[in-house]
Amino acid sequence: MKTTLNTLLKMKQDGQKIAMLTCYDASFASLLDEAGVDIFLIGDSLGNVIQGHTSTLPVTMDDMIYHTAAVARGTSKALVLADLPFASYQASHTQAYENAAKLMAAGAEMVKIEGGAVMVETVDFLVQRGIPVCAHIGLQPQSVHLYGGYKVQGKTETEADILKRDALALQAAGASMVLMEMVPATVAKAITESLTVPTIGIGAGVDVDGQVLVLYDMLGVYPGKKARFVKNFMSGSVHSIQGAVEAYVKAVKGLTFPAEEHSF
Ligand code: KIV
Ligand code: NA
Repeated sequence: MKTTLNTLLKMKQDGQKIAMLTCYDASFASLLDEAGVDIFLIGDSLGNVIQGHTSTLPVTMDDMIYHTAAVARGTSKALVLADLPFASYQASHTQAYENAAKLMAAGAEMVKIEGGAVMVETVDFLVQRGIPVCAHIGLQPQSVHLYGGYKVQGKTETEADILKRDALALQAAGASMVLMEMVPATVAKAITESLTVPTIGIGAGVDVDGQVLVLYDMLGVYPGKKARFVKNFMSGSVHSIQGAVEAYVKAVKGLTFPAEEHSF
């Protein structure tokens, strides 16, 4: 059965964890579908892992459309979520709508945008016009040069309070899901408990409604430095990609990933 927003909401209500992975092409989409991954994210992380850039900033709308269409063609069950890339939505809500519509036409079923309170109006504009939105808060890789590196966000009490307020405001604006990247586990837990929509974490501890990793990180094929929150599932007794992805899904559903060592 096709995974929809209603499925995800019900999973949160039933305390069933959501397993999400990034996916960039049709063959992996079909393999990940078989392995029971609930959501495929066509992440702008493709700028790093596919294109070899050092950030996500060079990724274009055309790149995102190309990969979203490929993933959509290979998917039968999972929900297809696509990132709006750098400079494709920040200028205005009209710009966001025009570009989100292109991803939806390419086969996305939800779009993801980075930003807290500043994106509330944009989320409302998109949702009112029929486009589901996942909000991405905490570390926002498109703002890496503002932070001066990939750093944990929400560490002080003030920062944590802003994160909580942002999450509630984004939900009130109509966001269907809130993704938190590199946020202290206690903060992510409190936010998850305060929201009715599902939360997805990456480096946000185990007490969120679901997890996401970059596919090439969890398969151990990305040559770059491994972040603390990454686990290579292609190890131990696992000898196939299918097996690694199945192990990831099982670990997320069974709360054995992430462990303390992957959290902040
Ligand atoms: O682009 C991406 O892969 C992402 C995840 C890391 C959340 O946005
Ligand atoms: Na992204």
